Amino acid sequence: MGLLRDQRTDPKKFRELMREIASLLAYEATADLATEEVTITTPLGQVSGRRLCERVGLVPILRAGLGLVEGFWNLMPNAEVWHIGLFRDQRTLQPVAYYNRLPVSPTVDVCMVLDPMLATGGSAVAAVDILKEWGASRIKFVGVIAAPEGIQRFTSAHPDVPVYLAAVDERLDEMGFIVPGLGDAGDRMFGTG
Ligand code: PRP
Repeated sequence: MGLLRDQRTDPKKFRELMREIASLLAYEATADLATEEVTITTPLGQVSGRRLCERVGLVPILRAGLGLVEGFWNLMPNAEVWHIGLFRDQRTLQPVAYYNRLPVSPTVDVCMVLDPMLATGGSAVAAVDILKEWGASRIKFVGVIAAPEGIQRFTSAHPDVPVYLAAVDERLDEMGFIVPGLGDAGDRMFGTG
């Protein structure tokens, strides 16, 4: 997390760190998913193992959420990915939806909403609103850094959605940025800052 926050970290390193942190968060966020017993044949005999039996959908919020997808795919390469495009209006701080190609009805059992930053919480709340309207029954939110204000707003709006985070920072500044945070995750990831 220290390297990710460091202003000297370049986009290549930033993406690598985001991927590593996502893998660690994925471990936590998937710990309670249902598994079923399977029999494995080794060169010397048989042994029972366990296999994930829930269909997982990864829902990165564009753009910065894309940085968390690879880390989850390391653990579950067959997870479907459904993108939701939201950006935060810099003046009003309200989320604006610009991309949504979800199929007519849910194709997965569990949706993992991915977005590294939970600032005011507006984008995360809007993404979960969209998924609930779609008919998703089980949703989790996975972020990297949150402000206490964002957690409060999100858990009030969606108390049924568990939140997995790597760090909770001090506060939001007057521009709605997380302090000390890491700056703008999307810009740092894609080199557009
Ligand atoms: C950032 C971030 C979240 C959102 C968080 O995205 O990645 O999606 O803002 O803010 P909120 O909790 O106050 O809604 P941004 O709008 O900068 O878009 P980007 O990912 O395309 O850079």
